[in-house]
Amino acid sequence: MGVIAPRILVFPALFLLLLLLTEVPLSSSVLDAHFYDQTCPQADKIILETLRNASMNDPKVPASILRMFFHDCFIRGCDASVLLDSTPKNQAEKDAPPNVSLRAFYVMDDAKMKLESACPQTVSCADILAIAARDVVALTGGPHWEVLKGRKDGRVSKANDTINLPAPSFNVTQLIQSFAKRGLGVKDLVALSGGHTLGFSHCSSFETRIHNFSLNEDVDPSMDDKFAEKLKMKCQEPNKDRNAGEFLDSTSSTFDNDYYKQLMGGKGIFGSDQALFGDSRTRWIVEALGRDGGLFFREFAASMEKLGQVGVKDYKDGEVRMKCRAVN
Ligand code: HEM
Ligand SMILES: *[C@@H]1O[C@H](CO)[C@@H](O)[C@H](O)[C@H]1NC(C)=O
Ligand SMILES: *[C@@H]1O[C@H](CO)[C@@H](O)[C@H](O)[C@H]1NC(C)=O
Ligand SMILES: *[C@@H]1O[C@H](CO)[C@@H](O)[C@H](O)[C@H]1NC(C)=O
Ligand SMILES: *[C@@H]1O[C@H](CO)[C@@H](O)[C@H](O)[C@H]1NC(C)=O
Ligand SMILES: *[C@@H]1O[C@H](CO)[C@@H](O)[C@H](O)[C@H]1NC(C)=O
Repeated sequence: MGVIAPRILVFPALFLLLLLLTEVPLSSSVLDAHFYDQTCPQADKIILETLRNASMNDPKVPASILRMFFHDCFIRGCDASVLLDSTPKNQAEKDAPPNVSLRAFYVMDDAKMKLESACPQTVSCADILAIAARDVVALTGGPHWEVLKGRKDGRVSKANDTINLPAPSFNVTQLIQSFAKRGLGVKDLVALSGGHTLGFSHCSSFETRIHNFSLNEDVDPSMDDKFAEKLKMKCQEPNKDRNAGEFLDSTSSTFDNDYYKQLMGGKGIFGSDQALFGDSRTRWIVEALGRDGGLFFREFAASMEKLGQVGVKDYKDGEVRMKCRAVN
């Protein structure tokens, strides 16, 4: 001690420089696959078991959790801001319009409760969601990847922020820009859109494509005619209620590359999906992933690891929440 301390004082500039040199690369990779190895070695197992149980009881859980993770990472980074409840003074993300697709918050509460009793105040909600998103993909037949951990939970969630989510009406230029803002490339855009191999959409999210699409066309010309008729039926009175809609691909509870095959047949649900096949910048990627399911799995896993690093917070601007619905 007595020997080292004066040396640091003598060479403050050198010491600072060394600190900077080691800090800069580290700060962009605060995450670590072994983050909880000492503090909560059973974290992964508890989360997987919770997700497996919940998915067996409620088949909508996998799609809900995958969508939740995407929504979280695209707003203020992967910091579990999507899990915070509104307060009397603040309307949270989850209470803004794009929330029609947000469900299954109870599963996150359940996982957090179990982790708090196993290893109190250790595992962040942001990490739980990142691990859960990996698990639901594996549970539905998709690829497996290693989740880096160490994210801290944010303290802010604002309804207005949801205007920064890409809309289903976006064209490829807009989609590329939206992903680029998060450090994600064109390949990531196409691979991650494959998340639409799971789940469901409400009529409201694609209705503009099947009625009064433009001045001259009733239906979006990039949509297959028979498919458009089918969607019209689903969204027609009197069948139509607020839960009406269509599954995002023909095997919506299995994680596979069917989504891309549907795009190649004009059967993408959202304009933002179908546009990927209509634009030369992304079409070749759609074709490659549609042809080769193994390639899709590898690219999806790699892009999910990247998505999981978007805007990650560390202890300086985040915390480990005790409950995922409220800041400490
Ligand atoms: C590329 C831009 C994207 C757009 C414009 C978009 C848009 C949407 C919309 C509008 C819905 C349906 C909402 C509803 O009516 O219920 C939805 C559902 C869904 N999205 Fe996306 N999304 C995008 C990217 C992603 C990504 C990157 C993932 C995950 C990797 C993802 C996963 C899902 C899932 C799983 C569902 C189904 C949710 C459920 O059934 O509960 N999406 N998306
Ligand atoms: C999952 O369900 C099994 C059987 O019902 C139960 O024994 C187990 O405790 C549950 N695990 C979790 C993490 O919920
Ligand atoms: C969506 O937001 C509205 C308020 O804008 C709220 O009443 C509703 O409960 C929210 N839905 C979900 C699933 O959180
Ligand atoms: C959110 O956006 C609406 C409409 O753009 C605006 O009226 C409102 O003041 C905003 N609220 C906050 C808290 O920024
Ligand atoms: C994409 O949409 C934007 C905004 O509506 C528009 O300005 C742009 O021209 C469109 N780009 C293409 C390639 O269609
Ligand atoms: C389509 O537009 C016409 C003319 O504005 C309108 O009368 C009709 O109700 C619209 N149809 C739908 C399904 O929105």
